Amino acid sequence: MENKRTKNDMYYPSDEIVSKATVKEYEKRYQESIKDREGFWAKEAETLDWYKRWDKVLDDSNKPFYKWFTGGKTNIIHNAIDRHLKTATRNKLALIWEGEPGDVRTFSYHALDREVSKFTNVLKAMGVKKGEIVTLYMPQIPELIIAMLACAKIGAVHSVVYGGFSVEALAERIEDANSRVLITADGGFRRGKPTRLKEIANEAMKRSPTIEVCITVRRTGKEDCFMETDRDFWWHELMGMPIASPYCETEVMDAEDTLFILYTSGTTGKPKGVVHTHGGYAVYTASTFRYVFDIKPEDRWWCAADPGWITGHSYIVYGPLICGATIMSYEGAPNHPYPNRWWSMIEKYGINILYTSPTAIRGLMRFGSSWVEKHNLDSLRLLGSVGEPINPEAWRWYYEVVGKNRCPIMDTWWQTETGGFMITPLPITPLKPGSATKPFFGNEMAVVDDKGNELPPGEEGTLVIKNPWPGMARNILNDPDRYIEKYWKAYEKQGWYLAGDSARMDEDGYFWIIGRMDDVLKVSGYRLGSAEIESALVSHPAVTEAAAIGLPDELRGNAIHAFVILKDKFSPGKELEKELKEHVVSEIGPIAKPQEIIFTDTLPKTRSGKIMRRVLKAQALGQDPGDITTLED
Ligand code: WTA
Repeated sequence: MENKRTKNDMYYPSDEIVSKATVKEYEKRYQESIKDREGFWAKEAETLDWYKRWDKVLDDSNKPFYKWFTGGKTNIIHNAIDRHLKTATRNKLALIWEGEPGDVRTFSYHALDREVSKFTNVLKAMGVKKGEIVTLYMPQIPELIIAMLACAKIGAVHSVVYGGFSVEALAERIEDANSRVLITADGGFRRGKPTRLKEIANEAMKRSPTIEVCITVRRTGKEDCFMETDRDFWWHELMGMPIASPYCETEVMDAEDTLFILYTSGTTGKPKGVVHTHGGYAVYTASTFRYVFDIKPEDRWWCAADPGWITGHSYIVYGPLICGATIMSYEGAPNHPYPNRWWSMIEKYGINILYTSPTAIRGLMRFGSSWVEKHNLDSLRLLGSVGEPINPEAWRWYYEVVGKNRCPIMDTWWQTETGGFMITPLPITPLKPGSATKPFFGNEMAVVDDKGNELPPGEEGTLVIKNPWPGMARNILNDPDRYIEKYWKAYEKQGWYLAGDSARMDEDGYFWIIGRMDDVLKVSGYRLGSAEIESALVSHPAVTEAAAIGLPDELRGNAIHAFVILKDKFSPGKELEKELKEHVVSEIGPIAKPQEIIFTDTLPKTRSGKIMRRVLKAQALGQDPGDITTLED
């Protein structure tokens, strides 16, 4: 049944979608949820299992270090796995995984529990203790999910480093986390070729000497891995030993104990280890997932992100497993061997909900609709988008060609720091292409000026969140000052959270996200800091100074353009340009590769010596640079 459409470009859900929806009325429930926020979240928390019920829903005695469900005892695994083993969900598929070469592996909840418990016992045998941070640097294979869950089960903290990062990025994150144990793989498959993760891990371990134990999954079998005696172990050998018993008690955790840290880019060169917890994060990811994607027991859910990013943590792994959903996961490139790979998998596995990024949609759109039309996608009911604003053209293609005008698109706005969806439609929400629509239950958001005055509809300003929520980041690892400084200082008086995005609200109260206001870049939906790219560039012997900016790019949202000042002895040229690009790739990873390197003699700076990237950007786009009174020259 097609969805109805009106003249003013609103897209209304079909009667069928509405009749199936868990939430039939948004406005009233929303008002109730903000009037009694703690009551709302207490009710949500009651849908989960607790070893001991919380004493207090929200403890705001030490703002902005909010605590949720204090006194409560739980473990996210108790909800994501253990409780399902007592119901019919035990026999349900938890995970359907397809490798790029076409190999398939499936795990029931029962089987997942056994694998996780086995690996838990391996970790224990390696001396891993509650509270210890274990670094995971892996391709998109089931072992990544198993390793995350195993850490959580014994109360160790996982720090997943995206498998597309390279040596320096990995080394820096291992060091900041002070990890003793690293879990990796020989590689994974991407566009038909094996990646070489262990080789990068070996290089990173040379730079970060804290690692005592490295466990490697043999995925590709292609790489001749260097394995150091007493440090390196094969996953399959350990899992085949008597230590790997499939029985293990789940550790009882405080609601506020750390579940994981996830590094994300900020405005300085040093990535931030964002801290999330067992209790509040579980409640938030489960509730947002259940309401927004309206998950039903018969559904097959596919979040086509990498588990190495927050989207994967919250909506491949934790939210869906807590809800007892069946998850689909795929290892490789969307267009391998042909551009119909995704569509063929949706048909083959009967996927009901697809959640992906605008950049992936644009990438697949480029190949034309005929690749989609080869397949029967009748199983799809809902679609989703995340990571950057979705341009209306991509929205319409996704809606019309993929969703056949039947499937509402949940354009979810959120961040690593928010843990889960903050502004998002529900299946019943009338949609406007390009708008993430309205706040999720319990949240009050606003578009304000520097002083905190709310702006009238249509005016662009700063996006703020006015209240705490259970999924919020609790801190930045080793750096509470930075946590305060980045998120809470700007609107200290009001106690609002600064999201770092600019936005506007329209007359209907719909939010339109414009983009980052700080020096954070979104390239293909990946989050990178200008400063990280610059510090990679200046680590090259030829470079004395660098400035990186993002300029609009049709496919990737933003492309990186780097301005570089060379040291005296060096002169600009094609060769050096290539070398610098490759240098950034080997330091950070392919996602950070500059599209263009511009050699220059000066960079616009403030009198205090800070590079004014805004001026460079305006110049490149032929726009007015705005206020330049602080410009030195
Ligand atoms: C951007 C990703 C517009 C935004 C979950 C935010 C979006 C940053 C959307 C966080 C969306 C995410 N519409 N922009 N639906 N979703 N963003 O931490 O700029 O990788 O601040 O989290 O992505 O990126 P992060």
